[in-house]
Amino acid sequence: MKPTIVAYKTLPADVSAYLREHADVVEVDADQPGALAAALRDADGAIGASVKIAPAMLDGSRVKALSTISVGYDNFDVADLTRRGIVLAHTPDVLTESTADTVFSLILASARRVVELAEWVKAGHWKASIGPAQFGVDVQGKTLGIVGLGRIGGAVARRAALGFNMRVLYTNRSPNADAERLYGARRVELDELLATSDFVCLQVPLTDATRHLIGAAELRKMKRDAILINASRGATVDEPALIDALRDGTIRGAGLDVFETEPLPADSPLLAMPNVVALPHIGSATHETRHAMARCAAENLIAALDGTLTRNVVNREVLAR
Ligand code: DGY
Repeated sequence: MKPTIVAYKTLPADVSAYLREHADVVEVDADQPGALAAALRDADGAIGASVKIAPAMLDGSRVKALSTISVGYDNFDVADLTRRGIVLAHTPDVLTESTADTVFSLILASARRVVELAEWVKAGHWKASIGPAQFGVDVQGKTLGIVGLGRIGGAVARRAALGFNMRVLYTNRSPNADAERLYGARRVELDELLATSDFVCLQVPLTDATRHLIGAAELRKMKRDAILINASRGATVDEPALIDALRDGTIRGAGLDVFETEPLPADSPLLAMPNVVALPHIGSATHETRHAMARCAAENLIAALDGTLTRNVVNREVLAR
């Protein structure tokens, strides 16, 4: 008998067809209150993204596997899933390069004031040759501090070192030998990274340990000319503290793809700041990459339900049981 799976995100047609070959698929509009929890009660697995899966939603269900179409898995209580014996799969690797491109877009756009000045042109302000009031700062040759040098951080380091001749500093739980050898990256303490980087780029997952990793004290340690880049998760930064730091010139600017509340509320002070580039969480959002992620997540789910999944598993302990 085919397993029943819940799809709580719209999937590309070929990915949907693949899932239907292997399972009975129930499509759910996750915006309808209670609909996802109700569907999970009669399902073996689920696939989707961007929805918090609270432990209570799994009470009384026979769910054996969950597959998120994302590399981040902060929408899940992993310890609870592990206790329940539920496999959680995610989609690393396929999104590494496009997400690193987004990070670099933020670095360039913030440093060269691309968004601000494009709006200035559209508003009809370009009446004479530009002067220092429109100048930005260099990216090439500067120091990039990467907080958390995993897959995406490594791809950012490659762009920085090989493409932009930047000096790369990083913090990470363990040394990244490849980044050190290939890109000359140097592992330092967070304080040194903050004090010496021209761009501080957050690439850590959101966990209890990284929530508000960057607050008022850390922002004060940054150079006044430095730019903060965040395309990881909004809550790694204390957003009110960042707003203060941007207002009072503690740092030069910020390039942000993620926020504590998403979508970013229209009255956020960040939206009124010329020294902020704000994107709508586009990290991996290209047609090619989002398709690859959906395909990867679908294959993860079917393999997990089959008991054959060996990679892309967040809670590997469950496989050992
Ligand atoms: C991810 O894959 O975690 C991206 O941030 C999209 O949510």
